[in-house]
Amino acid sequence: MLKRPIIIDTDPGIDDAVAIAIALFSEELDVKLITTISGNVGIDKVTRNALKLLKYWNKEVPVAMGASTPLIRQPEDASDIHGASGMEGFDFEEPTNELLLKENAVNAMYRVIQESETPVTLIPIGPLTNIALLLKVYPEVKSNIQEIILMGGSVSRGNKGVMSEFNIHVDPEAAKIVFDSGLPIVMAGLDVGLKALVLPEDSAKLEHMNATGKMLHSLFKRYRGGSMKTGLKMYDSCAIAYLLKPDLFEAVDTFVDVELNGSLTAGTTVVDLKGYLGKPSNAKVCIDVDPERFREWLLDSLRKCN
Ligand code: BDR
Ligand code: CA
Repeated sequence: MLKRPIIIDTDPGIDDAVAIAIALFSEELDVKLITTISGNVGIDKVTRNALKLLKYWNKEVPVAMGASTPLIRQPEDASDIHGASGMEGFDFEEPTNELLLKENAVNAMYRVIQESETPVTLIPIGPLTNIALLLKVYPEVKSNIQEIILMGGSVSRGNKGVMSEFNIHVDPEAAKIVFDSGLPIVMAGLDVGLKALVLPEDSAKLEHMNATGKMLHSLFKRYRGGSMKTGLKMYDSCAIAYLLKPDLFEAVDTFVDVELNGSLTAGTTVVDLKGYLGKPSNAKVCIDVDPERFREWLLDSLRKCN
């Protein structure tokens, strides 16, 4: 089977770790590169976290470090949710820098995309700074990008601001560049992320499932994205789930813009479901997910990990 080439742009991040696990152990995917972006915590920590995960799984995927700040704004983090290190709760071995490229994330993405025989799918699961820079510095990559499936945004309310979801809130200017790019975009935002839960009985199964499950179970005890009792939000796995099993989702083609100036609403994705703005659609927006089938898919996928 021809594996689908993907690049994951990430800020691990506990829910990022789950998404990365599923992608790395999927028989359908070829993870060509992991690029890091400051988001949940700063760039040095998220890069270390990516390297720690790869060492834990003994996977040799190159890692390239990305932007340490948003395009224009001051960084805001989510260490209240993921802990001070960004992946608090498990004692990882210190990784070496063998997998860390000298190239920065933008140059590494450019090279990997241009070298790929088949168009590459980008999976951004953090703020969109690196992707925006890539599309501005090297617009020629667009012809070899299959699609961008991103976790971010919301059709309704926010989780960082009243109306803004964290990944878009942190770098709205970058998000606008991505939505305006003309590339095929799938937006898996809070409308599905809030329903993509790991329930207590799932966490219990994970603990004894395999080494990945044991590690994730331990991280989940410190993860504040929901609660161990009522369910933990697997936001970032929604992007991988859409890639591998789009029929779990209900999605609509629509126009999405990003609010940059609103004094209360900067970072909001303005999803024009009713066509008020009269603009052609630029994204497929996931508006619903089947929570039961998502949980089943998540556990089945994690069972395939080491
Ligand atoms: C997003 O914010 C981050 O904290 C998570 O990793 C996810 O990418 C959810 O809003
Ligand atoms: Ca993330």
